[in-house]
Amino acid sequence: MHISLVLLIISLATPTICIPGDIQLELTHVDYGRQLTKLELIKRAARRSQARAALLTSKACNSNPLSRANIPIHPSGGLEYVLELAIGTPPRPYPLVLDTGSDLIWTQCKPCSRCLPQPSPLFDPSKSSTFSLLPCYNKLCQGGFGQRNCTKNHCMYTYSYGDQTYTSGSISSETFTFGTSSEFKAHIVFGCGTINGGDLDNSSGIAGFSREATSLVSQLSISGFSHCMTDDINKRSTLRFGTQEEIYRDIKVLVQTSKFVDGPPFYETLYFIAMTGITVGTKRLSIPKSVFNNGTLVDSGTAFTQLPEVAYNKLKEALLSDMKLSMSDKSVENLDCFSSPSILPSRVKAPKVILHFEGIDMKLPRENYIADIDDQGILCLTMMKTDYSFGILGNTQQINMQVMYDLKNSKLAIAPNQCYKK
Ligand SMILES: *[C@@H]1O[C@H](CO)[C@@H](O)[C@H](O)[C@H]1NC(C)=O
Ligand SMILES: *[C@@H]1O[C@H](CO)[C@@H](O)[C@H](O)[C@H]1NC(C)=O
Ligand SMILES: *[C@@H]1O[C@H](CO)[C@@H](O)[C@H](O)[C@H]1NC(C)=O
Repeated sequence: MHISLVLLIISLATPTICIPGDIQLELTHVDYGRQLTKLELIKRAARRSQARAALLTSKACNSNPLSRANIPIHPSGGLEYVLELAIGTPPRPYPLVLDTGSDLIWTQCKPCSRCLPQPSPLFDPSKSSTFSLLPCYNKLCQGGFGQRNCTKNHCMYTYSYGDQTYTSGSISSETFTFGTSSEFKAHIVFGCGTINGGDLDNSSGIAGFSREATSLVSQLSISGFSHCMTDDINKRSTLRFGTQEEIYRDIKVLVQTSKFVDGPPFYETLYFIAMTGITVGTKRLSIPKSVFNNGTLVDSGTAFTQLPEVAYNKLKEALLSDMKLSMSDKSVENLDCFSSPSILPSRVKAPKVILHFEGIDMKLPRENYIADIDDQGILCLTMMKTDYSFGILGNTQQINMQVMYDLKNSKLAIAPNQCYKK
């Protein structure tokens, strides 16, 4: 059954959007539907994780407008999950990458001066009855993200990502349709990009989920969003909008929460929590708490968790000794792999690993931190070290957990769950 809720916005300058509780959207993995071997999938995810870290690092460098003004074009690091939504009237489907690390929602528009390949046809404003350009007095045309100016009383923008992907065009407003089992519509201010560069990695644009005013979650004024990611990339995962009560209604296990903490300068609009340590088996590793001082970024767009080097090395040593394995000289991209000469890697018992955060003990089942490459006789650790000033909690470690960004109470909530969707 489809319940369609058309929301009337009296004035674009003061949007008030009331969304019905617990809306579900489908998420597909970027490698969804491709016939890739496990090894290829791991390699691709490792490469994307590294590129993502580089992208996030350069966020700080790129916030100097001068360095942003001149942007060479390079391939993007690629993100992990694609969100299905529809834009315009009549609604047309646009798969946008879910990015908790950026601020703007955008897609490529006709007439296009420079557009990237994308799976859906370019958005054509002239074919939609609800499209309008955003007037300059709108508060979403002022302050905040990227570079903006007023040309013929229309708001123009340029927004660039650390990885050299960029988009430039008109800030516009459109009706977006969300949801699968039930759906709702809302007027959303977005970037209609007519000059774009970089790489969209099989999506048709990016949906920024940061805490900045222009992000999708800020515009929808939702109290929280939540994802549950499956371990089978050929199945769909879900994204839900709703309150903590709605999201965890059917979950009988304990929901743990951790307050968001301030990120370092330049990262204030992103989602950080405080990490406190790691347990392997029954042993809490001796890691000085200070290595976690800059917090841990919770990121849907990074595949593999990145730990401060000291913490990562302790974890690796503890696993090697607990599993009685040795390092393999075969590595997969930049991941460390262990060799299993006598038994099939997938038969090797692995200890419970717990990532400790303020308020949350995240218990990782084996498959959330080990990838068995049976035909090579190796097991690879799907976490890595970062030599970079904060840690990143990646999505592989969040598999089969209901992970909620509680925006109203400014905290992260986690509970184990079965995430696959039929
Ligand atoms: C206004 O912004 C657009 C997009 O960022 C840019 O292409 C254009 O050159 C700018 N115009 C002025 C006068 O700065
Ligand atoms: C996009 O995904 C499809 C399968 O869903 C795949 O066949 C195609 O090669 C991908 N394109 C790019 C540019 O990665
Ligand atoms: C925290 O970040 C600052 C600034 O980037 C850096 O100098 C410092 O080394 C970082 N601290 C840790 C423990 O990584």
